[in-house]
Amino acid sequence: MPAFSERRLFVIIAIDGPSGAGKGTVARTVARALQFRHIDTGAMYRAVAWLAHERGIAYDDEPALVALAREVAFDLEDGRVRIAGHDVSSAIRTSGMDLASSTVAKLPELRAVLVARQQQMGEGGRVVMEGRDIGSVVFPDADVKIFLDASPEERAKRRAADPAHTGSAIDLVAVAREIRARDARDSTRAASPLRTAPDAVVIDTTGRSIDDVVQQVLGLAAQVSPTAIRPE
Ligand code: DC
Repeated sequence: MPAFSERRLFVIIAIDGPSGAGKGTVARTVARALQFRHIDTGAMYRAVAWLAHERGIAYDDEPALVALAREVAFDLEDGRVRIAGHDVSSAIRTSGMDLASSTVAKLPELRAVLVARQQQMGEGGRVVMEGRDIGSVVFPDADVKIFLDASPEERAKRRAADPAHTGSAIDLVAVAREIRARDARDSTRAASPLRTAPDAVVIDTTGRSIDDVVQQVLGLAAQVSPTAIRPE
């Protein structure tokens, strides 16, 4: 067990929650403020689904998806998403990929491969990792665990207004329906369903500004690690 002061240098901030709760913007802004890396694990599930489609692999062909996820190169730097050399930053943000990613995310062996890769990516610390199971499965010992939530109406509004999310329904009722269906799939699947880790701080972002939420997360991070939290 490293000494307290050394361990503090390996800070991991886990941000979980359903889609549209503000995870992406909050995680990115917190990471920038601290000069930490930002890792969007949802983008990894989306990128695997995209590449499977590209290669003609069915979304339920677990052995083929596992082989693909083991070998393929992910590059999640600078807010871009690349897989096997393809820049898929916008291609993965469509309603087709919403559905495909939540379908492949049900597969336990594929999850095990991606979780191991996420643990490897985060092992150096100074990382803000966002997803559904970061505080519960990927880094259960994360220094800061946040669970972001928001009302279904607010989440649907944000998703409909998200310029990065192309090809999705702009009709709020349809977006709300899609979000509810995806929540249900993410929360009821057998493998690592979306759950709040018992020691996570739950933050409801409904009606709150990003800056306000970011300040709260930075405050929590500073409490656990006043030294390592300073930008390098
Ligand atoms: O956060 P997102 O909407 O980009 O995630 C895409 C899908 O991947 C979504 O259905 C939830 C799933 N996911 C997951 O199961 N575990 C994670 N750590 C991240 C995302």
